[in-house]
Amino acid sequence: MLIPDDKLLEIKDAASIAEVVGQYVKLVQKGRNLLGLCPFHSETKPSFTVSPDKGIFYCFGCQAGGNVISFMMQYHRLSFAEAAQELARRYGIPITFKDLGPEGAQRAKKRQTLQEIVTQAASFFAATLKAPEGKAGRDYLEKRKMTPEVIRDFHLGFAPDEWDGLKRHLTNRGLSLELAQDAGLLVAKAQGGYYDRFRSRVIFPIHDRHGKVVAFGGRIVGEGEPKYLNSPESPLYTKGRHLYGVPQAQEALRKTETALVVEGYLDLLALRVHGVANVVATLGTALTREQVRLLKNLAPKAVMVYDGDAAGSRAMRRAFPLFAQEGLPVRVLPLPAGMDPDTYVFAHGPELFDSPWEAAQPWFAYLLDELVKEHGLDIEGRVRISEELRPYFQAVADPVEQALWLKVAAERLEVDEAALRRSLTSLSPITKSRLSPVKLDVNLEKRLLKWVLNHPGAAPVEELEDWALDLEDQELQEIMALIVRSYREHGVLDHGLLIQQVEAEPLRQQICALTLGEEELGGPSPECMAAHWRRDFRMRRLKKAQQDLKARVDQAVRSPDNEDLMALLAQQQEIARQLEALKQVSTTKGEDG
Ligand code: GTP
Ligand code: MN
Repeated sequence: MLIPDDKLLEIKDAASIAEVVGQYVKLVQKGRNLLGLCPFHSETKPSFTVSPDKGIFYCFGCQAGGNVISFMMQYHRLSFAEAAQELARRYGIPITFKDLGPEGAQRAKKRQTLQEIVTQAASFFAATLKAPEGKAGRDYLEKRKMTPEVIRDFHLGFAPDEWDGLKRHLTNRGLSLELAQDAGLLVAKAQGGYYDRFRSRVIFPIHDRHGKVVAFGGRIVGEGEPKYLNSPESPLYTKGRHLYGVPQAQEALRKTETALVVEGYLDLLALRVHGVANVVATLGTALTREQVRLLKNLAPKAVMVYDGDAAGSRAMRRAFPLFAQEGLPVRVLPLPAGMDPDTYVFAHGPELFDSPWEAAQPWFAYLLDELVKEHGLDIEGRVRISEELRPYFQAVADPVEQALWLKVAAERLEVDEAALRRSLTSLSPITKSRLSPVKLDVNLEKRLLKWVLNHPGAAPVEELEDWALDLEDQELQEIMALIVRSYREHGVLDHGLLIQQVEAEPLRQQICALTLGEEELGGPSPECMAAHWRRDFRMRRLKKAQQDLKARVDQAVRSPDNEDLMALLAQQQEIARQLEALKQVSTTKGEDG
C-alpha cells in the first residue's frame, strides 16, 4: 500500500528471498522449502522456514513472518521505506521517496516522525525522572519500592508538573507539535496552541514486541483524577493490540513457557522487583482476542493473576472464552481477597510464582467455584449455574476437554451428566446470538484459507469472492479479500505482495502460518476439495438462514399479525429440503457438527 505494486514486484523479483535471507541465516533445503535457525529468537531446532516459490518466510517458533522486505525490516529494524530502499540499492533498482506515491511517501514519513517523537518523549520523561523536577516521581517510585534496575529496564520516567515541559522539549528539537498531538502527547487548546497531556505523573512507556515505544501510561503521584492516564490511539498504537512489558518478558517467557497475566503496570513491576520476569500486563481494558493471540505467540500457556476481588474475578471470567476459542491453555492463580499481585508479592514473597502453572487452578474449576459461591447449590442455584456455564462450555473447542469438564460439573452440581450435557449444548436464542457458532467455523475457515493459499487457481475468483462474504472471522475475511484483490489486479496469487498489503502484524503472521503450515499429505484433489468447501459453505449458510427463520417463526407465533406465518413456514420447509438434499449428495465426510 505504501509503494506501488509494480515497483515492489520489481524489487521482489530481483531480490530473491533465499539469497537475501541466506546472507544472515544458514539455510538447508527441506522439500520445497529452506530451513534454518530463526534469527529472531533463540532456538536449537530449526523452525525458521523460507519458501522461495512463494517469496515468504515464517518461523513456527516465534511467528515472525513476511516477505523479503519484511525480513530486512525485522532483521535490521528498518522502516518499510528504508528496507525497500536498501534492497533496491543492493540490486540496482532506482527508487525514491516519490516511488512510494504521494500518499505512501507521506504516510511512511509521518510514521517515521511519530516514532521519533514518542522515542524523544520517552527520553525526555526518563531524563526528567533523574532531574531535580523529577523528585516527586522518584519519591513515588521509592514509596512503591521500585529498584533502579526495574526503573532502567522499563525505561520509567516522569512528566513534570508543568503545562509545557514536553512541548518545549519537542519544539527545541524541531519536531512537529501537530504530530505530537497525533501521537497523543499534546492536547490542542481551543484558542490554538498545545499543552502537555501527561503532567505530574510517573510514566510507563508501552513497547511493541520489538522494543519500540508506541504509547505511554501515566500514574498520578499526588491527588487527582484519573489515577491512570493512557495514550489515546494513534497510527503507532491501537488499543487492545498491545500488552505491557512484552520485550522485557520475552526471554523469561521462552524459558518458563508460561505467561503470567496481570492487570496493572505496578503489579508487573512489583513482581519484577522480586525476580519474577515472565509477566505481561493488560493496559486498563478487558483482555481482547488480539491480546490473547499475542500471548499465544509469546508462550504456550498462560496464568491469570488478577485482583482478588469481584471485579478481578469478573474480568478473568470474561477472558476465558477467548482463551478457549484461541486454544491457549489458561489457568487462574486466585489471590486472597483485597490483594493484587503488587501487595501480595511484597507481603508474601514470590514463591507462589515459582511454578505458577502447577500452583494455579484450571479455569473451568475456578469458574465453577465462583458460580457456586455466587448462586449456591440449592435447586435454583444449580439451574442458574448450568445456564451461566453454557457459553463457556460451548467455547471449548476440544471435545475431549468438553467431555471432561462436563463430568466435573455434573459431579459438582449433582445432576445427571446426560441432562447437563443437553442443557449445556442447547442453543438458547440469547447465547446463540451472543456466541454464534463461530467455534467450529473458525477451524473450517482456517482450513479453507490454508487450502486457497496453497492451491492457487483451484477455485475461480468469483467463488473466492463469495466465500469472503461468508467468512465470520474478521481476520480471515480480510485475508480472503486480499487474495481476491491479488487475483484481480495481478492475475495471480502473489504471497509476497499479499503480505505487503497487510499492515497489521498478526494478520501477516496468520497468512504466513497458513501458507507454510503443515499440509495434509495425500489429501483429495483440489477439485474435490473445492466441491467439499462449496458444500460446507452452502450448508452453513442454510443453517444460518434456518436459525434466523426459526427466531422469526417463534416471533410470528407470538404476535400473529406481524409476519406471514405461513410464508415463513414454507421457507423453513424449503431450507430443510435443501439441507437434506445437500446431505444426500455429500460423498466427502462432512465437518459440520
Ligand atoms: P496502583 O493503585 O497504582 O497500585 O494501581 P493498580 O494497578 O493496583 O490499580 P488498579 O487495580 O486500580 O488498576 C489496574 C490497571 O488498570 C492500571 O495499571 C491501569 O492500567 C488501569 N487503570 C486503573 N485506573 C485507571 C484509570 O483511572 N484510567 C485508566 N485509563 N486506566 C486505569
Ligand atoms: Mn495496586
